[in-house]
Amino acid sequence: MTKILVTGGAGYVGSHACKALAAAGYEPVVFDNLCAGHDWAVKWGVLEVGDLLDRERINEVVAAHKPAGAIHFASLAYVGESVTDPGKYWRNNVTGAINLCDALAAAETDAIVFSSSCTVYGLTKAPFINEAEPVAPINPYGNTKRAIEIMLADYEVANGMRNTVLRYFNAAGCDADCEIGEVHDPETHLIPLAIAAATGDRECLKIFGTDYPTADGTCVRDYVHVTDLANAHVRAVGRMLDGGKSDIFNLGAGAGYSVREVIDAVGRVVGIPVDVIDDARRAGDPARLVANISHAQQSLGWQPEHSSLDNIVSTAWNWYRAHTVAAQGA
Ligand code: UFG
Repeated sequence: MTKILVTGGAGYVGSHACKALAAAGYEPVVFDNLCAGHDWAVKWGVLEVGDLLDRERINEVVAAHKPAGAIHFASLAYVGESVTDPGKYWRNNVTGAINLCDALAAAETDAIVFSSSCTVYGLTKAPFINEAEPVAPINPYGNTKRAIEIMLADYEVANGMRNTVLRYFNAAGCDADCEIGEVHDPETHLIPLAIAAATGDRECLKIFGTDYPTADGTCVRDYVHVTDLANAHVRAVGRMLDGGKSDIFNLGAGAGYSVREVIDAVGRVVGIPVDVIDDARRAGDPARLVANISHAQQSLGWQPEHSSLDNIVSTAWNWYRAHTVAAQGA
């Protein structure tokens, strides 16, 4: 079987990608330091515990497995923390990516898929963002994502290592079989927090800003099901292994929902209205971030087929119940 190295494969999007890779006939090799990922989430392929800041360890794992390609998820991803501790983000995200690229180059692995983020577009006003939109990240986390995108182009020139950059919008929802799901500590994402507020596991949900220039005054985001993201990675890997050239793709559902619309969907699915409190804007939140996904649709043959808002919330709710029950029984 063709081995694909998956850094961060024990994490939320990474573990869903491993499931999709295995279903497509690849053998994932997970490289994860387990600082945000979970060993129980590695159900497809082996787990090689290691940190990308440890050059010897990543060199050793790449040399041992000789993967045909790599998907690079491993990254610190809290925007707020990146503002207060930028060095941590630059060191971990960028140095980690350098060490990975060096290890891949030494093993002559010439294809990498990189998890980037819509955050690279910063405060854009485009109603539907395509890949040609200027990039202007507004926080250190986004800066590290953009820096790695630029760096990958340099590795291609020097080593012929082609890259596919996938810029995710808001990853959400969970595996339909509840084998894996979203577990962050701390959790900062809207949907799991709204579910916890509906069930009473948290007191109430703060709505960060109600005076944005949107229909109901709350921020609009493009929520894309994690299984759809996972499938896009499989398509990107296939395209790379077939000799496809470097490219950038936005991955979203191509539709925007406001914070209030998401909260209503959570209330509907859970069957209990979410207790909310209107709060101040959160620093760095653009009013609207919605993808134009036609490039991914046309060039990857990809469709966000699981990304209706109700399916996203239902699968997140199923996972929340399964995981909470499991955690309580532990
Ligand atoms: N929100 C609230 N209350 C909360 C949590 C979130 O109102 O308790 C709002 C946010 O202000 C935002 C929306 O819900 O408008 C979605 O917030 P999330 O934190 O779920 O997601 P973000 O859009 O902030 O973040 C996502 C990714 C990041 C990435 C960012 C790029 O999770 O990794 O998009 O903008 F950097």
